[in-house]
Amino acid sequence: MVEPTTHISTNTSPVGIDIRGLYKIFGPTPEKFMPAVLEGMSKQELRENHGHVLGLRDINIQMPAGGIQVVMGLSGSGKSTLIRHINRLIDPTAGQVLVGPAEQQVDVVQMGPSALQHFRREQTAMVFQKFALFPHLTVQENTEYGLQVQGVDRKTRRTAALRWIERVGLKGYEDSYPNQLSGGMQQRVGLARALTNDAPILLMDEAFSALDPLIRTDMQSVLLDIQQEIGKTIVFITHDLDEALRLGDHIAILRDGEVVQQGTGQQIVLKPADDYIESFVRDVNRGRVIRCRTLMQPGAPVDGPTVDASLVIEEAARLLSAEGKEAANVVNTKGKHVGTIAMGDIIGAMVPPRAEVAAEA
Ligand SMILES: Nc1ncnc2c1ncn2[C@@H]1O[C@H](COP(=O)(O)OP(=O)(O)O)[C@@H](O)[C@H]1O
Ligand SMILES: [Mg+2]
Repeated sequence: MVEPTTHISTNTSPVGIDIRGLYKIFGPTPEKFMPAVLEGMSKQELRENHGHVLGLRDINIQMPAGGIQVVMGLSGSGKSTLIRHINRLIDPTAGQVLVGPAEQQVDVVQMGPSALQHFRREQTAMVFQKFALFPHLTVQENTEYGLQVQGVDRKTRRTAALRWIERVGLKGYEDSYPNQLSGGMQQRVGLARALTNDAPILLMDEAFSALDPLIRTDMQSVLLDIQQEIGKTIVFITHDLDEALRLGDHIAILRDGEVVQQGTGQQIVLKPADDYIESFVRDVNRGRVIRCRTLMQPGAPVDGPTVDASLVIEEAARLLSAEGKEAANVVNTKGKHVGTIAMGDIIGAMVPPRAEVAAEA
């Protein structure tokens, strides 16, 4: 077999990940049960009568190049199984994991051993929940490790590592050992190490889940801030809705190995696909999810502040109230006027309609 090329892109252009028809059955003879699963055999029947575990069923997700794809679900829903298919730490029972720009997509599932090794090392970096730092190496050495494995020279390694150590807020700790750092600081090292690899794909499996709430929010800010600059394709796993909504450009919700809904956070909050998702989103602060572009109306500029179309409406409300105005002008990323947004509409969107309130009571 000819090995597909791994020259997907230079490290500067973002790489999309297109998952198609992905199935994973755990057990001694997974292929044997594919036809039955395709016919609709349930996870429960497969487990109870045949001793196999249906890890993933027919996953189709187009992960945005240069964006943050969040995969959310309860424990055991298949999140880790899914992310591990992207760098093929797990082989699928069926399906494709296509990476790269549209014209040159490469299927990770079809890669031979050397192409796969190359892909893993140079196109992907992982950040784990349990940090996975080497205890006998300093912050500096841990951060350089990936480049060292790639055979990058000492000086280049050092410069790259120092840049990211500083960027994640650990300047001055280069010579510390992991056990001298708090959990939050250790995870900053984990992030610096992943960023130093400069791989276009960053895989983060519950990377912030072990951290205390305040430190966790802090890390989310660090990640969002850095992402503005690097524009990597990030796959971020979480079981926390607030985290998903804060980070995700695109969110897929898994349940029992299946995608039950995917879309923007706003789409999910405004139109939950079923009762399961509805129960997740019920208590969400809509003001922090709905963006100005959703509520704005076309119209000429008004006397009021200017807000970005992507700004969440709670921030717009804060601005309007501070300036004592009733409406704001909405502009696109290029600063062009695209419409206006009224305080009344913002309040209407943040407070659930009466019918929903009654239904909950
Ligand atoms: N190697 C394995 N063998 C058998 N079952 C597995 C294996 N790995 C994961 N599973 C099962 O697959 C399902 C999804 O697990 P996982 O992807 O770890 O979920 P999550 O990360 O969402 O908590 C669970 O039912 C789990 O028990
Ligand atoms: Mg997991």
